[in-house]
Amino acid sequence: MRENRDVFTAQLIGKNVVITGASSGIGEQLAYQYVGYGANVFITARRKRRLQEVIEKCKSYGNSQQKCGFLTADMGKIDDRERVIKAAIEFFGDIDQLILNHASQPLVYKWSGRREQLEHLDVMLNVNMVSFVHLTAAALSSLRRTSGSICVVGSGSGRIPTPFTLEYAASKFALDGFFSGLRYEFKANKENISITHCVLGFISTESGSRSFQKVTALMGSPNTFLLSLLQPAKLEDAVQAIISATTSRLGEIYFPSSQMVWLMSVIRSLFPEIEKFDLAGFTKS
Ligand SMILES: NC(=O)c1ccc[n+]([C@@H]2O[C@H](COP(=O)([O-])OP(=O)(O)OC[C@H]3O[C@@H](n4cnc5c(N)ncnc54)[C@H](OP(=O)(O)O)[C@@H]3O)[C@@H](O)[C@H]2O)c1
Repeated sequence: MRENRDVFTAQLIGKNVVITGASSGIGEQLAYQYVGYGANVFITARRKRRLQEVIEKCKSYGNSQQKCGFLTADMGKIDDRERVIKAAIEFFGDIDQLILNHASQPLVYKWSGRREQLEHLDVMLNVNMVSFVHLTAAALSSLRRTSGSICVVGSGSGRIPTPFTLEYAASKFALDGFFSGLRYEFKANKENISITHCVLGFISTESGSRSFQKVTALMGSPNTFLLSLLQPAKLEDAVQAIISATTSRLGEIYFPSSQMVWLMSVIRSLFPEIEKFDLAGFTKS
């Protein structure tokens, strides 16, 4: 464990890391852990007060040479994406790691096609997917100069179809489609920029727990065995897995392995018919 820490400190000390969605949950913890490894961080989200608090804590974890900055921005707004990247580069120079973590939280309901649900789809795709692409575009020249890394924080809902949060799931499926394709293009063009897709299961954050409770409340008679697998993983462990995978330039990780998202997504690809058995008990009453 100690050896792992030393390895990552050696790789991350003095590196410049941009983290989106860092005012709470996974993004906030990422900021603390990156600073703990000696990196400089530039964080963003919409809530200014929360970002200020996170930055103050980052400063207390780091040393006086480390740079910790923030900018409030709404990833639903097209100009804010470029603004964040420009401000980060002005703040600490070129970007070594771009951590695309923010997400608009899902509304949980049975889909009926109502107008507000259609509007929610626009928000979800724009904030959770399109903005990731725009941030990547804005950071591309900088990442080329550093041979840097992009981390895309995805979800098991982007691999295995799940009911009641369809717009969220669609945005996470779309991330894989775009960024896995881009990884091939980078390779073909000999671009030395890594893309790490982190497929997360249920992680112990306030937002994660809220959504999980709402989804299970809507289920008919959930399969208790499958539910028992979905014990929330510790936030610190999830963040460690994200940093480790991104810094090691892995293509994709599934975390935590105990929730078997990888296995279920493989089974689904090999045997698509399995969905008719409704193993999770979504529709039984
Ligand atoms: N927790 C889980 O169980 C779980 C499972 C799978 C995947 N994930 C993924 O992990 C990532 C982090 O989730 P989390 O649980 O840490 O959620 P969280 O605590 O709600 O964090 C979401 C972050 O995104 C920011 N954000 C939301 N809308 C934004 C917008 N329009 N513009 C800019 N920033 C915005 C929020 O800040 P402001 O409100 O201040 O803007 C917040 O900092 C997400 O991508 C999520 O999909 C989480």
